[in-house]
Amino acid sequence: MTFQTPPAVEVRNLAKHYGDFVALKNVNVTIAAGEYFVLLGPSGGGKTTLLRTIGGFQKPTSGDVFLHGKSVGHLPPDKRPTTMVFQAYALFPHMNVTQNVGYGLKVAGLPKAQIADKVAHALDQVGLTKFAQRKPHELSGGQQQRVQLARAIVLDRDILLLDEPLAALDAQLRKDMCLELKHLQEKVGITFIHVTHNQEEAMTVADRIALIANGDLVEVGRARDIYRAPEKSFTASFVGENNVLKGKVSDANGVSVTVDVAGAKLQVAKRDLPVSTGQNVTLSIRSECVALETVNDSNAPTDGLSMLGAYDESVYLGLTTSHLVRLPDGTEMVSRIIADADDTLPVNGAPVRLRWKPTDIRLHVE
Ligand SMILES: Nc1ncnc2c1ncn2[C@@H]1O[C@H](COP(=O)(O)OP(=O)(O)OP(=O)(O)O)[C@@H](O)[C@H]1O
Ligand SMILES: [Mg+2]
Repeated sequence: MTFQTPPAVEVRNLAKHYGDFVALKNVNVTIAAGEYFVLLGPSGGGKTTLLRTIGGFQKPTSGDVFLHGKSVGHLPPDKRPTTMVFQAYALFPHMNVTQNVGYGLKVAGLPKAQIADKVAHALDQVGLTKFAQRKPHELSGGQQQRVQLARAIVLDRDILLLDEPLAALDAQLRKDMCLELKHLQEKVGITFIHVTHNQEEAMTVADRIALIANGDLVEVGRARDIYRAPEKSFTASFVGENNVLKGKVSDANGVSVTVDVAGAKLQVAKRDLPVSTGQNVTLSIRSECVALETVNDSNAPTDGLSMLGAYDESVYLGLTTSHLVRLPDGTEMVSRIIADADDTLPVNGAPVRLRWKPTDIRLHVE
């Protein structure tokens, strides 16, 4: 008989209400041991609430949290295998790095020699051996975070909870720190649950991303799957730069479905979605998958993978240029193209055709 390692975290039917307000509706999620898991979503969606409930700082209204296969509903934060990483202020300012990291063990009454061994090992793991004698104010923000990670390691806490750990940093430092966190997690091998509303940060660090919005867990997946093949229309609108189009199904009989959008009849793979004629659906196409062609007039031919519109304006973004095109019903579409030094742009109002590949358009039923 083989025993599989239980997941680090299992959240079952979790709901959290604040009075009448529902912050989490009915969340189910499983996080494997050693996984770098990101909770991503718009402000107010419920990310912090979920993280704090896992850590035991908040009691769920209903549902359960299991850590390493054991229900922890009755346990306070310090009795759980979790550690919450806060920003700078969580270290003792008068103690050096060694003392900060060893503090929890000292309180637990461990012999001095054992504390010294464990602390040295943890500092080595997080790359802070050289900084052992420094005080927190002599460390960078990233180094201070590593001290907190070392603290978690000596206490054998193997689930690290990080709420917007990089929010206070400027853009460049944020990028560097992001990669550093990722490498640290790979090296130490413990489970990270990292909350952010920054998509690039999420994609940089995550093994898997969960999208959280309006108290719901909308979708979970690897960064590339969520980006390239979003299941839900919300995911398409939140991740990447998608053109999200509303339409009505006019033919659902084939492997591909015909959807009427702004006077055009578009073809999209049905996959295994339950769709029928007359149903309202959503389509998404990433802006970088939409090619732009100038045409002679607004009666130019189209097929199920193209639409006509009027050129509106361009936005130069350095690496890419976004071309904005208005469809006959007023909807704006974006075609994002690697910027050319000598871009000659269509004039405002010029008829253009937008075109994409069959694999680049997706159907969503919600
Ligand atoms: N103690 C509380 N009492 C009442 N409402 C609360 C309380 N804490 C959070 N909320 C509400 O619950 C919702 C979810 O809050 P939460 O902090 O989990 O969001 P978040 O996804 O972390 O957002 P942000 O990205 O802005 O940090 C918000 O609408 C918030 O106003
Ligand atoms: Mg939050």
